[in-house]
Amino acid sequence: MDARSASVLRSILERSGYCTFHLAFGDGNVQHQKWRHFADRLDEPLHTLVELFLLQRAVDNNRAGELLGKVLSESLIEAGVLQSDGAAVRTTGLVLISFRSLLFFFELVLTPRVYFGMDSIALGLYQRPVPSGTTLDLCSGAGIQAMIAAQQARHTFAIEIDDRASAIARINLMLNQLDKRVTMINMPLEEYAASVTEPFDHIVFNPPQLPAPEGIDYPVGNGGADGLALTNRVLRLYLPHLAENGSIEFIGRGLGRDGNPIFIDELGALFAEHGVAGHAQLIGLSELRPGDRTYEVLVQMVAGTHNLSVERSHEIFENHFRALDKNEMYTFFMRGVKSPRADADDHSRPTVTNLAEVGKEWLA
Ligand SMILES: C[S@@+](CC[C@H](N)C(=O)[O-])C[C@H]1O[C@@H](n2cnc3c(N)ncnc32)[C@H](O)[C@@H]1O
Repeated sequence: MDARSASVLRSILERSGYCTFHLAFGDGNVQHQKWRHFADRLDEPLHTLVELFLLQRAVDNNRAGELLGKVLSESLIEAGVLQSDGAAVRTTGLVLISFRSLLFFFELVLTPRVYFGMDSIALGLYQRPVPSGTTLDLCSGAGIQAMIAAQQARHTFAIEIDDRASAIARINLMLNQLDKRVTMINMPLEEYAASVTEPFDHIVFNPPQLPAPEGIDYPVGNGGADGLALTNRVLRLYLPHLAENGSIEFIGRGLGRDGNPIFIDELGALFAEHGVAGHAQLIGLSELRPGDRTYEVLVQMVAGTHNLSVERSHEIFENHFRALDKNEMYTFFMRGVKSPRADADDHSRPTVTNLAEVGKEWLA
């Protein structure tokens, strides 16, 4: 898809009131039941645009051609946004929503490769872009964190391992006229680290972060045994590339025991090694036991995706957390600032704001 097609799509959506309709249910919302409930009272062309890009419904080929024009329809098919069965077109599992004034596609399917979720919203709200700085967005997905940062940064680099996510992110950049301000790189972040030469003023990342017992995998969420495997790797590889007074911001899940978020000390030790003073805000808490909502979701999801009984899945998680000696999982946002002149004590332990409450996953 080229810049011209992206600009035509943007102006069709703007003229129709598409973004305003979506925003009626909240910034970045995925309220599909509400979209569906209100869709029937919409006039054309908004009604068909909502059917196609929010409700993932099939739209007759001729109708889509009339609405989008032949060139745009074909370029959306070629770009992997739409698929056609000859008679009708529909999206390839994508929906098009708005968050922080940006318009973007992500996959609203059971196991998405182009992810957007509550964690994306939380980081999108907490991250503080650095005006005129150079930003690095790791694990970029649909590119939302990179685009938020790029509205103020001098230049942003976005790194994403998945080729489908990178391709959709490139479309999202064009839709928001940010393609010249963001360089999208389809590469594992481990490989990209070796080619970095200039320091970054701002590093932001929303990593895979679900704790995974041995032999268990999640399509986009595998955070290793304690949920922090990729986070630790990013900190080791990229803290050396943080500029003086530069900031690093991320979101994640970490394990604790009996009211003690033990993981903060582990992350704090890595910060201290690199002269970074940190602050963590705990925004959600689940108890790792049957009956806890988040715990049950994990158990059910793994049972479903690994073809296990729910009882067997329970047993796997119970053994896993017992072996780690942890009984809590926190969701958190963390920011670190490289401040070489700060007193050594400033680096000893991140300051912590604890807003976590059992049963709340993301407070944002
Ligand atoms: C939780 S999603 C976050 C997406 C986006 N940044 C957001 O906030 O919505 C994590 C992303 O990290 C990507 N990823 C996983 N391992 C990676 C790696 N080693 N290098 C680069 N990207 C990776 C996944 O493909 C996925 O798109």
